[in-house]
Amino acid sequence: MSDFSVDGFAAACKDAMASAEDAHKAMKICVEQAMADNTPKDVIAALNAAVPPDADIGELIVHASPELTMLYGRIPPRFQSAIHNHTVIACIAQLEGEEISHIYKRDGDDLVKVGQETAVPDDVVALRADAIHAIENPNHSVGSALHVYGGDFTTISGQRSIWTSEDHEERPFSFPELLKESVKTMKTNGNEDGLRAVVEAIPAAAPMIEAL
Ligand SMILES: [Fe+2]
Repeated sequence: MSDFSVDGFAAACKDAMASAEDAHKAMKICVEQAMADNTPKDVIAALNAAVPPDADIGELIVHASPELTMLYGRIPPRFQSAIHNHTVIACIAQLEGEEISHIYKRDGDDLVKVGQETAVPDDVVALRADAIHAIENPNHSVGSALHVYGGDFTTISGQRSIWTSEDHEERPFSFPELLKESVKTMKTNGNEDGLRAVVEAIPAAAPMIEAL
């Protein structure tokens, strides 16, 4: 039987990061260890137990403290996100389905795409604090992941940015803006399946689709 728990993982990861010379490396080792000791199904069960049964948003915070945020990323089928940053170190453990991370870097006032990485179950992807990316679920099924960030997501929103997909205009981050720009991205791409799935997962997106 799995012994993975949100509280247990958070405590162990914070301890390891606090005493490490390289906190990001320590975080990645903790996430990799959790994936080695537990099946993706076990981790999903613990994350499901940590969120309300009727939760309908794409990313769910299951732990937030000054040093660490844990999100249960449930990415709707064919979802394409707006480009965004986190401003803190991160590790993503893929649990179910796939997630493509499109990686960008600043180029003066613009952004240039510098690569992409596809995570499949059991993969652990580390993202630097200055990482800028957009995510995509390439499949017609929900993708699940454990997202771990080296800071408190509930207080750092003001430091984060999103970028418009068309002209890479940098704007202050907020979850409603991220959702709005993600809907716009899917609309521009003619991604009808992604738009349908996002309305099912996040009913608040429906008026945005009409308005754009
Ligand atoms: Fe992200």
